[in-house]
Amino acid sequence: MSIQKINAGIIGATGMVGHRFITLLAEHPYFNISVLAASPRSAGKTFTEAVGERWKLSVPMPELVKDMIVYDASDVEKVSGMCDFVFCAVEMPGGKKEIKELEEAYARTETPVISNNSACRNFPDVPMLIPEINGSHINVIETQRKRLGTKTGFVAVKPNCSIQSYVPMLTPLLKYGIKEVVVSTYQAISGSGKTFKEWPEMIDNVIPYIGGEEEKSEKEPLKIWGNINNGLIENAQSPVITSQCIRIPVTDGHLATVFVNFEDKNNKPSKEEIIKLWKEYKGEPGFIDLPSAPKQFIYYFEDDSRPQTGLDRDLENGMAISAGRLREDPAGLFDYKFIGLSHNTLRGAAGGGVLSAELLYRKGYIVKK
Ligand SMILES: NC(=O)c1ccc[n+]([C@@H]2O[C@H](COP(=O)([O-])OP(=O)(O)OC[C@H]3O[C@@H](n4cnc5c(N)ncnc54)[C@H](OP(=O)(O)O)[C@@H]3O)[C@@H](O)[C@H]2O)c1
Repeated sequence: MSIQKINAGIIGATGMVGHRFITLLAEHPYFNISVLAASPRSAGKTFTEAVGERWKLSVPMPELVKDMIVYDASDVEKVSGMCDFVFCAVEMPGGKKEIKELEEAYARTETPVISNNSACRNFPDVPMLIPEINGSHINVIETQRKRLGTKTGFVAVKPNCSIQSYVPMLTPLLKYGIKEVVVSTYQAISGSGKTFKEWPEMIDNVIPYIGGEEEKSEKEPLKIWGNINNGLIENAQSPVITSQCIRIPVTDGHLATVFVNFEDKNNKPSKEEIIKLWKEYKGEPGFIDLPSAPKQFIYYFEDDSRPQTGLDRDLENGMAISAGRLREDPAGLFDYKFIGLSHNTLRGAAGGGVLSAELLYRKGYIVKK
């Protein structure tokens, strides 16, 4: 029996994350691309005209979007009238305030919003999802709907792209009591929506600063690990995380170096136990069969030269996380150190957004209007 597909809009379709959404949704079993939207610069043009030479992926532009008209994202009534829900990934001149207003305007037309933007991430009634880890946070949507005055509309968000390269490995270790984490992320240029063609200054270059990224890398994991209390997410209080975030000359894939201290040195897991926990970590029950979910969430490489951005970012269509080089710290400053890697525009952005939407569809939060 064929299901009637849910109509999805893509707000920010002409950008880096938008392009990923298009390729992921072109043949999706539940969702159908029904409308594309972007800035007034692109509005009224066909997708091909709007994007011109700016198609950012190595795979070709799917045929089905080439002649679709791009709408002005601020024409909320029109765009929301053409879809059942939207994915949203935009940069706007008014920054977070303008993006929050846009997302809530869509929600108020009873159009659920699955967002990659940071504007709504800190609200305790907005689930910030890595579905394998905190899928149950979707339960706060009821509280959010009361705030927005909606029946079916809501905003659900993805966390920052960098944290997927270490939060999945830390999560199954939390039961031992993690005291502190030091993380450095080495982030690909697609994380700022760019290719080498658009950003030639990044060839043979490293930039030691990414605006706003360190605060997100330190704070957002605590929301992911939070509990629901009275219909709101209460952030976890520990561990303490400190970070440095660096831009490196790589197309895709954020790599993290991670140092961990446990609360009680006499009750820390062995290296073998940690690797077993990673390999067996499946996330919440009933989750694994979603179309975009990887069969194996965390891969552990015994080879010290892995994971590598070029070789390993595309594992399981860019939705698996990889880890390697787990070892004790010979200096004794930390209990363990390891390397993590995730694909920033797939698992860390559009792929994670599609996976969240699949979960919300399965749980009845995304329906045909
Ligand atoms: N890249 C990543 O790895 C990544 C990961 C996680 C989250 N994110 C987040 O996702 C969002 C988009 O990132 P990106 O990398 O895709 O950026 P991008 O490539 O620069 O794309 C920006 C998009 O925003 C649209 N836009 C600009 N001004 C607008 C306006 N006034 N109204 C409506 N749309 C407007 C652009 O449309 P025009 O083409 O018409 O200008 C374009 O579609 C950002 O919030 C970013 O932080 C990105």
